[in-house]
Amino acid sequence: MKKRWWNDKIAYQIYPKSFCDSNGDGIGDIPGILTKLDYLKALGVDILWLSPVYPSPFADQGYDISDYYAIGREFGTMEDFDRLLAETKKRDMYVIMDLVVNHCSEEHEWFQKALADPEGEYADYFWFVKGENGEAPTNWRSYFGGSAWEKVPGTDKYYLHMYAKAQPDLNWENPRLRREIFDMVNWWLDKGLAGFRIDAIINIKKTPAFHSYPVDGPDGLSSCAHMVEEARGVGELLQELKQNTFEKHDAFTVGEVFYMKEEELEEFVGDEGHFSSMFDFSAHLLGESEKGWYAATEVPFRLWRETIFNSQKKAEGIGLLANIIENHDEPRGVSHYLPRHAQNELGKKLLGATWMFLRGIPFFYQGQELGMTNCLRCDISEYDDISTHDQYRKALEAGCTREEALACCYAFSRDNGRTPMHWTDGENAGFTTGKPWLALNPNYTEINAAEQEGRADSVLNWYRRLTALRKAHNDTFTYGRFLPVYESKEDVFAYIRENEETGERILFAGNYGTAGVELSLCGGREVLATNCGREAELNAQLKGGRLTLGSCECAVVLLWA
Ligand code: GLC
Ligand code: CA
Repeated sequence: MKKRWWNDKIAYQIYPKSFCDSNGDGIGDIPGILTKLDYLKALGVDILWLSPVYPSPFADQGYDISDYYAIGREFGTMEDFDRLLAETKKRDMYVIMDLVVNHCSEEHEWFQKALADPEGEYADYFWFVKGENGEAPTNWRSYFGGSAWEKVPGTDKYYLHMYAKAQPDLNWENPRLRREIFDMVNWWLDKGLAGFRIDAIINIKKTPAFHSYPVDGPDGLSSCAHMVEEARGVGELLQELKQNTFEKHDAFTVGEVFYMKEEELEEFVGDEGHFSSMFDFSAHLLGESEKGWYAATEVPFRLWRETIFNSQKKAEGIGLLANIIENHDEPRGVSHYLPRHAQNELGKKLLGATWMFLRGIPFFYQGQELGMTNCLRCDISEYDDISTHDQYRKALEAGCTREEALACCYAFSRDNGRTPMHWTDGENAGFTTGKPWLALNPNYTEINAAEQEGRADSVLNWYRRLTALRKAHNDTFTYGRFLPVYESKEDVFAYIRENEETGERILFAGNYGTAGVELSLCGGREVLATNCGREAELNAQLKGGRLTLGSCECAVVLLWA
C-alpha cells in the first residue's frame, strides 16, 4: 500500500447547522466552528469534514445545493470560510467539504433553465424522460418514498429524482455537465480545500435504458436501488472525475458508497482506486429491512463482531476504509450498538476504543466524543428529517400503532444525530443564545463538554487518550495487520494490530458481556490503557499470563515483539 498523507489521520464530521451558533439565529455557522478549533485540536483530530454549507433551500438539510460556488448565508460568508481554511492550516488541520453531485437543488440555475426550456441544452443536464400513457416512465420508488419521477410542467416528460423531488438527478452521461463539475471541484481545491466526502456517488451511473422492476412494496413501486445494482460502468466516470480533479491536487476523498459489488473494493480504494477511502457501512446495514425501520431486527453481538472483522480482513492489503460508529444519517452509536447493560460511561468508552484501533481512518461524528445519545420525541411533528416522516408513515401503513411508529423513529431517525451539540449545561446547551432550529436533546444537562472537560474519567478525556495512543503508535495502527483473537469468547471483542516492519504488537480486548471474563495471555508486556482505571492491577496480572475484564471493561495492551 502506498504511503499517502491522509493514511494516518483522524477525521471529525461537523454537522454545521447543529455545531455552534455565533449570532443567535439558532443555526450553527462557520464563525461558530472557528471558536471550537482548539477544542477539536485537543481531541486529536486532523481532518474536519463539513456537511454541506452551500446555499440551499434545505429540502434535505443542505444536501440540495442551489449554488456550488458559494457559502449559504445561514452559515456565514466566503470570508468566514477562508478564515476557517487559514485557521485550520495554522493548527496543522485540514478541511474537506461534502461533494453532492448526484443531484442538485430544484432551485439551482441549471434546473431553472431546464424547466424554462425543456428542449434546450440544460434539460440534458438532467434526466427528462417521456412518460408512458400519461404515467411516470418507470415504477421506481425514490429513497425518501414515493415515485422517483416528477412531471416537468407543461410537457409530457418527467424528471428523475432518486432522493426528494427537490433534488433532481444530474445526467453524468453529458460531457458538458461533467466539465462543469470538474471545474467546480478544482475551484475549491485551488482555494486550499484538502478534499471531499463524496455523497451518494454510486447513483450517478444509470442503466442505459430505463425499465420497471418487480413491485417490492405495498405502494406498488420498486426501489430505485434495483437500477443502481443493474447499472455498470460507474468506475469510468469516477476515474475521469479523479484524473481531472483530485489526483492533480493530491486531495483526500472519502466515498459514501452503497451497493458496491464486493469484487470492486480494490477499484474503489486500492492504490489506483477511485477514492482515497470509503465508509465501512457494513455494521450499519445489519438488521435493516427493505420494508422500513419498523421491520428492522435486533443484531446479536456476535454477528456485529463478525461483520466488522470481515470488513477489516477484506480491506487488508487493498486500502483503508473509513470507520464510523455514527453520522448524520444514523442513530447515535452508543444508543444503537451498546446492549442495555452497557448504556453508561463505561460502555461508551468501550465502544469508542473498539472503534479507534481498527484498521482504517477513524471518523468521529460531532458529539460522539461526549457520548451523546438518541433523542426521545413525543410527536412526529417534532421531527424535521424528511426520511423520518416517510418511515413513520410506512410504519403506520403497515399496522403499527402511533407509539410503535414513534419508537422506530427514536431508534433510527436521522434527527438523533442532528440535535444541537452539547457544549454546556446552560441555556440551549451553549449552542445558541436564540431558538435552536431543532430542539435539543434534554439530557444536555448531564451530557455536555463543559462538565466532561474537567473530569479526568469522562468520555471526552477517554477519547483524547485514545487519539493520543493511536498517534503514539502511529505506524502500527495505520499500517499494521489486523488479527482477530479470542473469537471463541462469546462476549469479547478483541484484536491484535501487528506492525510487520517493527514487530510491534498491540492487543485491544473488550468485554461486552454482563459477567467478567478471564483471558489467558502470554506475551503481555504493558497495559497502555483501560477504561476503568485498573492499569496497575492488570499490569500485575500480565506476569501471571492472564487478563481479567469485568462487564464493559476493556484494555489496550502492548505485547512483546
Ligand atoms: C447522503 C447524505 C444524506 C442525504 C443523501 C442525499 O446519503 O448523507 O444526508 O440525504 O445523500 O443527498
Ligand atoms: Ca448562526
